[in-house]
Amino acid sequence: MGHVKLHIPGPVEVSAKTYEALCRPMIGHRGQGFKDLYAKIQPQLQTLLSTRQLVYLSTSSAWGVMEGALRNLVTKKVLNCMNGAFSDKWFDVSKRCGKEAEALQAPWGSPIRAADIDARLATGQFDALTLIHNETSCGVMSPLAEIAALKAKYPDVTFIVDAVSSMTAVPIDFDALGIDVLLAGTQKAFALPPGLAVFTASPAALAKAATVKDRGYYFDFVEFEKNAKDSMTPSTPAIPHVYALASKLDEFFAEGLEARYARHAKTNDMLRDWAARHGFNLFPEPGFESRTLVCVNNGAKPGSRTIDVAKFQKFVKDRGVLIDGGYGKIKGTTFRISNMGDETVESIGNLIGILDESIAKL
Ligand SMILES: Cc1ncc(COP(=O)(O)O)c(C=O)c1O
Repeated sequence: MGHVKLHIPGPVEVSAKTYEALCRPMIGHRGQGFKDLYAKIQPQLQTLLSTRQLVYLSTSSAWGVMEGALRNLVTKKVLNCMNGAFSDKWFDVSKRCGKEAEALQAPWGSPIRAADIDARLATGQFDALTLIHNETSCGVMSPLAEIAALKAKYPDVTFIVDAVSSMTAVPIDFDALGIDVLLAGTQKAFALPPGLAVFTASPAALAKAATVKDRGYYFDFVEFEKNAKDSMTPSTPAIPHVYALASKLDEFFAEGLEARYARHAKTNDMLRDWAARHGFNLFPEPGFESRTLVCVNNGAKPGSRTIDVAKFQKFVKDRGVLIDGGYGKIKGTTFRISNMGDETVESIGNLIGILDESIAKL
């Protein structure tokens, strides 16, 4: 079967080198081999997230940790900041977990702004908030530093941040931001197969979790901390993924993190230029566009050219590449193309050639 290269915003293309790393012989998760593996990658993960806290490995997709964070850290009421499909869903998940929750709803494509959060937190009702840094569904990136600065004013509110589609592609300095939880799944900018999530938590968040009842076991942050201190995970982890993560982290540091961020910015600029050259604008509010994908406006908002997205997708797929036809309520009126992971100026150049050929056929 011919392989169709993934340029959807996750899962993304996985390299042959990573597949090789996944296939290393199995080891026991309580043995020295696993402890050595985790101990080797721990400082790399800490550097990546700019933190002195331990970084935890969860055999789950991101939602496991997103739900776990609610169960571990919401005791009073959570403010769910919403501006797209995944952040909207987090509000729903809060309620499904039996938590008191309130929606701070921005229009899809608009960023979450600190002033709006400030006004809600000032009511004193909340002990936690959730924020998605890069809302993948509509390609909008909220100003994390501006929002995290509120932590100084509301030290007792736990700031839970999803960086699922931004971690490793843009710098996120966990300790300097002063936020409480930072999490990501590894099938996005890490360019690993789905099935593993990484996260870290502040000492205050861990201390709070220890006082919370009914936080369960599989996603109990206290268990993660206790085990990680001994380079282990609470339950049997997806060891092949951890091998692959180790391989990937070596690649990140061989490239250099700054070079990696610059590469994502450059390849993202190339896709933005492609869209502009063909008469499109982007769906997100200007100034808040994602650096890991473009969400192209195809009629969801005024001012853009519109095309038959399904047809365009098909022509692109005929040339061996999968792009995304828009998510949820903006399916078809937007479409998305990812530049996350291992993509280079050369590979995005090739993709642009395919996009050009395909659009010319419409
Ligand atoms: C920003 C963001 N958060 C959360 C998720 C959910 O991730 P998963 O389905 O891997 O649990 C996604 C998936 O695309 C996402 O883009």
